[in-house]
Amino acid sequence: MEKNTVEIRDLSVAYGKKEALSHLNLTVRPGLFGLLGRNGAGKTTLMRTLAGLLTPSGGKAVVCGVPLQMRAQIRQMTGYLPQDFNVYPSMRVEEALDYLGVLSGLPRRVRKERIPALLRRVNLEEQAGARVRALSGGMRRRLGIAQALLHDPRVLIVDEPTAGLDPEERIRFRNLLGEVASDRVVLLSTHIVGDIEAVCENLAVLERGRLLYSGPVEGLAEQAQGQVYQVSVSRAQLEALKEQFSVTAALQEGRGFVARVLADRPPLPTAAPCMPGLEDGYLSLLAREKRGGGGR
Ligand SMILES: Nc1ncnc2c1ncn2[C@@H]1O[C@H](COP(=O)(O)OP(=O)(O)OP(=O)(O)O)[C@@H](O)[C@H]1O
Ligand SMILES: [Mg+2]
Repeated sequence: MEKNTVEIRDLSVAYGKKEALSHLNLTVRPGLFGLLGRNGAGKTTLMRTLAGLLTPSGGKAVVCGVPLQMRAQIRQMTGYLPQDFNVYPSMRVEEALDYLGVLSGLPRRVRKERIPALLRRVNLEEQAGARVRALSGGMRRRLGIAQALLHDPRVLIVDEPTAGLDPEERIRFRNLLGEVASDRVVLLSTHIVGDIEAVCENLAVLERGRLLYSGPVEGLAEQAQGQVYQVSVSRAQLEALKEQFSVTAALQEGRGFVARVLADRPPLPTAAPCMPGLEDGYLSLLAREKRGGGGR
């Protein structure tokens, strides 16, 4: 087993009787790894389990050589930025980090050295003395990354960190994660395909607690090979198309529309096949799952 990977084998997690993750098999290697899935797919459940905060109901996972059961070591090894990250609003940024450092048992000497360096890294130097409540959403998310990196974990787990960020902050945040991923595993969850396209090499797609795909980002687009068509239609034709097929985009053109359609056969005789993108692959996988065909 490789030292710097997360190995997930036949992992199931349940809340009472409800199974939120079902027999998952996945290997996450160093670098930025995307976890893509709709609301309720099981992303947060997987991340909390890997961070040692939830106990599996079956199967196992090994994080950099350490099995999940060794909770203290797992917490030492992982840094986690929760989906709803919010800390000590009335503290100053520096104080909040120092306090969190105390809670994770870091000696004063290490905190004094690491906190300013981390604030530089996440570009919050100027905000060191500001109250946490006065930070913007993006700044707060960057503070969350600093917090998660405080004990220098080998695996960083970030749950939907780009939600609600403006485009500029979203790009800045993605770049920061890319830098952090140069020497460790970074697991990033999102329901936005574009977040993954820009920065991840590999990804997994979750749906209703099951794995639909895992592999390189390009491989996801290939899932929709031969199923993407473009066709010029009138408004009435567009409505008819929507009844029968999955229309993923409709751009107005003159008095009609250019529709992008996901279909197993040409939706109209005039439809032209086109190259699938990542989003097409994702939608195709979800559609297949809905029909009960499953995926890879
Ligand atoms: N504490 C809980 N108790 C009971 N069921 C839960 C609990 N947390 C999550 N679930 C259920 O487990 C499933 C997976 O939820 P999870 O939060 O992992 O999904 P997610 O992919 O993170 O969704 P989102 O994109 O909305 O954050 C859902 O069906 C959800 O209703
Ligand atoms: Mg979630």
